[in-house]
Amino acid sequence: MKKHQKLPPGSLGIPFIGQSLRLLHAMWTNKGEEWLAQRIEKYGPISKLTLFGAPTIFLTGPAANKLIFTHEAVVPQQPKSIPRIIGRRNMLELVGDDHRRVRGAVSEFLRPEVLKKYVGHIDGEVRYHLEKNWIGQSEVKNLFRSLKASNRARKTLARIVQERKSAQKQEKCTSNKDLITYLIGMELTDDEIVDNTVLVMIAGYDTSSILITFIIRHLANDPETHARVVQEQEEIVKSKAKEEPLSWEDLSKMKYTWHVAMEILRMVPPLFGSFRKTLKDIEFNGYIIPKGWQVFWALPTTQMDPKFFPEPEKFDPSRFKNIASVPPYCFVPFAGGPRVCPGNEFARIETLVMIHYVVTRFEWKLCCKDNTFRRDPMPSPREGLPIKLQLKN
Ligand code: HEM
Repeated sequence: MKKHQKLPPGSLGIPFIGQSLRLLHAMWTNKGEEWLAQRIEKYGPISKLTLFGAPTIFLTGPAANKLIFTHEAVVPQQPKSIPRIIGRRNMLELVGDDHRRVRGAVSEFLRPEVLKKYVGHIDGEVRYHLEKNWIGQSEVKNLFRSLKASNRARKTLARIVQERKSAQKQEKCTSNKDLITYLIGMELTDDEIVDNTVLVMIAGYDTSSILITFIIRHLANDPETHARVVQEQEEIVKSKAKEEPLSWEDLSKMKYTWHVAMEILRMVPPLFGSFRKTLKDIEFNGYIIPKGWQVFWALPTTQMDPKFFPEPEKFDPSRFKNIASVPPYCFVPFAGGPRVCPGNEFARIETLVMIHYVVTRFEWKLCCKDNTFRRDPMPSPREGLPIKLQLKN
């Protein structure tokens, strides 16, 4: 850092701990947004603090999001536990050409052209899940569960990779059967296949189930929106034969339902924020972000900013009717740039299919008056969202 360059305002606090406990407490009590808003009010869009053992620069606003998503010297910084759980060759740990190669292979499988073929399969999975876990139940105890990656899962995946490889050698298996066979075809190493399959399972499970949980929670409290979603979905039911699975074309007709999902993603993003690290000194807003420092970005600070989303506390799916009217880098539930979530289309499909069957087959009420949630760090309804269910006639 050169002499004339200034560090951003703010205090680093107690070494190592800094402001970590305050941020965690704010998130736990669902006041994370407020805590950051106070910080922005005091210091502006760039400030320094200590989070989880490292000196950190907190950045906010569309220009900051753009820098974080696209600057080549800003790379991901994951907690040390992540490579231990997911493996060292998962794409979150990779940079440059390695990241491009592995991400390219995984994204091939998650492209809309490929996913189109899986809509019927996802439809079958959703119906099976609802029949097994919802039909005949008057109450679903806890809509919110999480998937824990374990060594056992990694070993099982490693065995599946070997089985698929030998099946391919004997030409018993086509190369586009599932993600693993796809990745074998892309010539990734065995570790890269296992690690990135675990990553996709973890990255895709909690996030999508949170989105679906919060849509169901919102619809129970907002009869007008619920009625419009039901109307849109019933139109699709009418256009189909009995038991005919949903198709890609049906999903494209679910515009209002997806706007509802986007409004939930704006107000309750599954990911609150994440960390990056700088590979060199970077200037931003007249301040310096020193090489090697941690950078923290948070989604709610732009998604709940009245400058970009008037009356941000109001639930209004029509904000997304004309997506071009949403300023760039302000609505970022899937982040952006070369690390934008590669599973966003998959998340859209599973969410729409699930909501279709939930609203056309069931009525439900929340069992719990307490409508609050906490972030640990992902949002979860305090009481687990038990619901009273009734099958529609
Ligand atoms: C509502 C659902 C989802 C949300 C809100 C979401 C959000 C995000 C966000 C914000 C990131 C970027 C994190 C960062 O830059 O620090 C990300 C990355 C990622 N997501 Fe998702 N995600 C969702 C569903 C999925 C699904 C279904 C999959 C897989 C099928 C998936 C796979 C991934 C992967 C592999 C990455 C890492 C990309 C990279 O580093 O290049 N996500 N997701």
